Amino acid sequence: MKYGFFDDVNQEYVIHTPQTPYPWINYLGNERFFGLISNTSGGYAFYRDARLRRLTRYRYNNIPVDNGGRYFYIYDDGDYWTPGWMPVKRELEQYECRHGLGYTSIMGERNGIRATQLAFVPLSFDGEVHQVKLQNTSLQTKKIKLFSFVEFCLWNAYDDMTNYQRNLNTGEVEIQDSVIYHKTEYRERRNHYAFFSANRPLAGYDTDREAFLGLYNGLDQPQTVAAGQASNSIASGWSPVGSHCIEITLEPGKETSCNFILGYVENPEEEKWESHGVINKKQAHAMIAQFADETDVKQALSELRAYWYNLLSKYTLQSHDDKLNRMVNIWNPYQCMVTFNMSRSASYFESGIGRGMGFRDSNQDLLGFVHQIPERARERIIDIASTQFENGGAYHQYQPLTKKGNHEVGGGFNDDPLWLIVGTAAYIKETGDFGILDEQVPFDGNVERAATLFEHLKRSFYHVINNLGPHGLPLIGRADWNDCLNLNCFSATPDESYQTTQNLEGRVAESVFIAGLFVYTGPDFIELCKRRGLDEEASTAQAHVDRMRAATLEHGFDGEWFLRAYDHYGDKIGSKDCEEGQIFIEPQGFCVMAGIGVEEGLAHKALDSTRDRLETPYGIVLQHPSYSRYYINLGEISSYPPGYKENAGIFCHNNPWIMMAEAVIGRGDRAFELYSKIAPAYLEDISDIHRTEPYVYAQMIAGKDAVREGEAKNSWLTGTAAWNFIAITQSILGIQPEWDGLRIDPCIPTAWDEFIVTRVFRGDTYVIHITNPQHVSKGVATVTVDGTLLTNNILPVAADGAIHQVKVLLG
Ligand code: GLC
Ligand code: GLC
Repeated sequence: MKYGFFDDVNQEYVIHTPQTPYPWINYLGNERFFGLISNTSGGYAFYRDARLRRLTRYRYNNIPVDNGGRYFYIYDDGDYWTPGWMPVKRELEQYECRHGLGYTSIMGERNGIRATQLAFVPLSFDGEVHQVKLQNTSLQTKKIKLFSFVEFCLWNAYDDMTNYQRNLNTGEVEIQDSVIYHKTEYRERRNHYAFFSANRPLAGYDTDREAFLGLYNGLDQPQTVAAGQASNSIASGWSPVGSHCIEITLEPGKETSCNFILGYVENPEEEKWESHGVINKKQAHAMIAQFADETDVKQALSELRAYWYNLLSKYTLQSHDDKLNRMVNIWNPYQCMVTFNMSRSASYFESGIGRGMGFRDSNQDLLGFVHQIPERARERIIDIASTQFENGGAYHQYQPLTKKGNHEVGGGFNDDPLWLIVGTAAYIKETGDFGILDEQVPFDGNVERAATLFEHLKRSFYHVINNLGPHGLPLIGRADWNDCLNLNCFSATPDESYQTTQNLEGRVAESVFIAGLFVYTGPDFIELCKRRGLDEEASTAQAHVDRMRAATLEHGFDGEWFLRAYDHYGDKIGSKDCEEGQIFIEPQGFCVMAGIGVEEGLAHKALDSTRDRLETPYGIVLQHPSYSRYYINLGEISSYPPGYKENAGIFCHNNPWIMMAEAVIGRGDRAFELYSKIAPAYLEDISDIHRTEPYVYAQMIAGKDAVREGEAKNSWLTGTAAWNFIAITQSILGIQPEWDGLRIDPCIPTAWDEFIVTRVFRGDTYVIHITNPQHVSKGVATVTVDGTLLTNNILPVAADGAIHQVKVLLG
C-alpha cells in the first residue's frame, strides 16, 4: 500500500494522508542549525548539538506518537484545527505534505480555509523559517485567528527531561513587539537565547504552557485556542512556550501569509545585555528583518533549492528505471548528506542525547558523501584521526563539540582503526589530494603528540598486525563491525552495557570479518606507501596482506562459506558445526570484496550459500539460524529476540557488501536484484508492511525469524545510506574513483541496454554513455573520451574544467 508518491521533477516525496504507518520525517538545515519535521509537523530544532543546544522540546516515545512540534492552530468561528492534522486531529477535506531537500510543506484544508505551512532553514541562517499561507476557498468573508505554538526546551535535552527540581524554577522569557524571547539560564552562564517571531501585529500571545493549554489538557485541546482568545501569559519557571495569536480577515478567494522565525542567537559576553536583565536583541532583529516579507521567503527557498540541485548534480543517472533514477539522483545522496551531518545523533529513533560520533561510522559515512563536499570530508578525517591512540587503536566514539574521544565508551573495537584507511583512501581517490597525508594530526587530542596522517594510517594497519590471534587472524577485541558480537565480555548482569563492561583480554577470540576488511583496504595503504617512495614499507605491508589472505583461506573458510569468528575458547562461530548462527553475512561480503577465494572458486560458494541460507524477500538477514536463547559467550547479539537487529535482522548496512561481492565475481543480475530488494523506492508499494519512509533507508528490517517480518525500524541515520550509494554507483553502475582517474567497470543486469551517468570528478564533468548491445553483465570492450579511444578503462584526469563525452561499450 502507498501513502504518497515521488515527484521527481520537484525532487519531493508527496504524502497524501497524515496517517502514515509511522511518522515520515525530513531534515531541515545543512550547516549549524537543524530541525527534524514529520509529515504532521512534529519534531524539534537544535543548534549544532542535539543534546546541548536543543531549542524546542520533544518527548520521545510519547503517547500518541510524535506529539509535539511547531504547530499552527486555526480558530474559525468556534471550530479549531491544525493543517498537519496532528495534534488536533480534526478531519481535513484536503491534506498534502511535501518533503523536499531541506524543506517541508504541509497543506490542510477545512471549511473554506486552506492553510499551507512551509518550513526550512535558509542557507547560512541559524533558525527555521515557517511561513503559513492562508487562503479563503469559500464564498464568505472569513474572520479567523491563527495561533502558533512551540514548546521551548531548556537547552540541555538530557537535563531537561530529568532535573525537574531545578528546571521548573528557571524558565524565563521576554516579549517585545511580536517576538517571544526564550532566555532561560541567560542570566548566568549561557550567552545564547532563542526567539520566535511573527511578522504581524499580535492580538495576543502566550508563553506559559499551563496558561496556553490548561493544566489537564493536551496539545489537541489548548484552552486558549478553544476559546479563540490568547491569555497574554508570561512564563516564570514551569514550562515556557511561544504562541502568537494573529487575527486575520480574508475575503472570498483571497490569500495572505505570515512569516514566523524560530531563531538562535549567541552574544559576546560583554554585549549580553541591553539594560539590566534585558537581553540584547540586536542580532535577533537583524535575522527577523531578513524575512520581513513573503518574497524574502520565496527568494531564500529558491537559493536553498539551487544549493541542493548543485550538490546532487555531482553524480546523476539517466536510466530506463525511474525508481533507480530517483534513488541515485535524489534520495540516496540526500540521506548520505543528512547522515554525514547528524552521525547517529538525532532521528526519530536516536534521541539526540546519546551517542557521539562513531569512529567507524563517520569513516563509512564519508564514503557516500565525499563527492558532494570533499572539503567537509577532509575536515572530518582530520577530526577522527585526532582521536586515535598512539598504538593505532581508537576511541569508539568522539564528541562533535569538543572533538575529544569519549572516555565513557572507550575503545577496543578492533575494526575501528582500519576504517580510517578506508575513509582516507576514498577521500584521496575522489580529490587527488595526497597532501592530506602530510597533515600533522594529534594522537588522543593532544597536539604535543602529533604525527602525519600517513603515520596514523600506518598505526591503523599495524594495530591489526600487532593484535593477531592463534590462527593468525585479527583479534576481535570488544567487537568488530557487529557491535553486538561481544566475544570477550561474558556479561551476566542486567543494565551492564555490552560495549563498555569488563572485557577479558584472552587474546583468543578472532574475527574473520576484520581479516576481510584488512585484505580489502591493505592495498590502499600499500599504494600510499609506494607513492611516498617507501618501497620497503610497501613490500612489508604486502607480505602482511598476503599472510592474512592465506590465514583466512586456511582458518576462515568452513567448506561452503566463510566463518565469522573464533570465540574466547577458540571455538568456531558462524560454522556448520554450530547449533545456531551457522552462517553470517559480514565475512561473505568483505572477504569476497577483498578478492579472497575468488580464484579458488570459494567466493562463488560463499555467495551461493548466502543466497540459499540468508536471503529473504525483504533482503539478506545477518545470520542464520537466529539465536533462540542468550549465549553469554556471544553477548548482545543473542540478547535480541530472533529476527531483530543483529540477531538475524536484515541489517541494510551490510546487504550492499553482498551486492559488491556479487559484482566482484561478475554476477550483475544478482547484484541488482539484491539492490532493489532493500532500496526504499522499490518498497513504496509495501509501505504498510515496511512502515518507515519510502524515500530513505532504515538500519534494520525484521528478518524471517521475527514476528513482524518485513517491518523496518531506525530509519535515516545509518551506514546503510553510504554503502548502498557505493554499491550502486561504483560497483553496479561502475563509476569508480581511483588514484589517477575514474575507472569504468559496471556490473549490471544482462537485460539492460544502456544508461548515462554524468559525473563531476576533480572539477571536470564526464558524460558517460554506457551501451550494452551484447547483453553482458561485466566487461568493458572499448572506451572513448571526446572521440579518442583509450587503451584501458580508466578516464584520465583532464583537469580543464570542461565537459567530456565518454562512450563505453560493454561486451
Ligand atoms: C550500528 C552502529 C554501527 C555498527 C552496526 C552493527 O549501525 O552504528 O557502528 O557497525 O550497528 O552493529
Ligand atoms: C549498534 C547496534 C545496537 C547496539 C549498539 C550498541 O548500534 O545496532 O544493536 O545496541 O550498537 O552501541
